[in-house]
Amino acid sequence: MDLELENKIAIVTGASRGIGKAIARELAVCGSDVVVCARNAEDLELTAREVSEETGRQVVPITADTTSTPQVESMVAQAAQRFGKIDILVNNAAAPGGIARGPLETISDDDMLDDLNTKVVGYLRCARAVAPHMIQNGWGRIINIGGLSARNSSGSNVSAGVRNSGLVNLTKYLAQELGPSGITVNLIHPGATRTERSGPAYEEQARREGITVEQVEARVAANNATKRIVDASELAYVVAFFASPRSIAISGEAIAAGGGAGTAVHH
Ligand SMILES: NC(=O)c1ccc[n+]([C@@H]2O[C@H](COP(=O)([O-])OP(=O)(O)OC[C@H]3O[C@@H](n4cnc5c(N)ncnc54)[C@H](OP(=O)(O)O)[C@@H]3O)[C@@H](O)[C@H]2O)c1
Repeated sequence: MDLELENKIAIVTGASRGIGKAIARELAVCGSDVVVCARNAEDLELTAREVSEETGRQVVPITADTTSTPQVESMVAQAAQRFGKIDILVNNAAAPGGIARGPLETISDDDMLDDLNTKVVGYLRCARAVAPHMIQNGWGRIINIGGLSARNSSGSNVSAGVRNSGLVNLTKYLAQELGPSGITVNLIHPGATRTERSGPAYEEQARREGITVEQVEARVAANNATKRIVDASELAYVVAFFASPRSIAISGEAIAAGGGAGTAVHH
């Protein structure tokens, strides 16, 4: 299937590393030019150069903190000026796993609010800033990256679940609001996903528990129906489909891309 992503213009937030970088790379491989966004300029420039050299597409680094409305608006304005349109937004910037953790008496209001500000309000800020450009073109794709903690209480990790659940409603709202203008909005929930952070994290966990890295990985994979850990590049394939004109049949949905993690069914 041709995903028809040739010469589309995409913005991917949180794209200097991890899942966002893998998504930026896949969209570029599919023929899109990509604006990559994150806070740290040095990391972002390195990533942009690497992905551009690898794919032959324009990959433009624009720094912005998605907790700042003026910075988001400036980033989107620069992207629109550079390319003349914006077709695709991938909202991904956030601290994986959330930052407000229990036990209850130690959860700080500031951590809770910071996390919601980055992941829920941050995604809203970016959607609001790109919407006029997509409406003008009568076409757009917004893909929000959530997390499977939206569907399970993740124990002590309270803000991760609260923010990812919040994105379910935000996604549906945006889909209804923007659908008449040819824009679809969907939410992808990764499970535990392999990124460049995973190797060192698994090694550290293995050291702490006196077990092997293979045992740590097997334990992570055991929760998945496929008994393997999803790689960021595989998550990016899912996002590329939702970024494509071919995904027109789906909007306002939350889709798990965690290798069949967990046992719950969702109607
Ligand atoms: N990895 C997983 O297993 C997993 C599982 C479920 C869900 N997720 C979700 O997937 C997304 C990406 O996770 P990841 O593991 O790839 O994270 P990561 O490796 O830590 O990368 C996060 C990216 O977001 C950027 N960022 C963070 N806060 C930002 C802000 N306020 N403004 C702009 N950029 C910001 C970071 O760059 P700077 O620090 O330079 O800004 C970086 O580029 C997150 O939404 C996470 O919750 C991940």
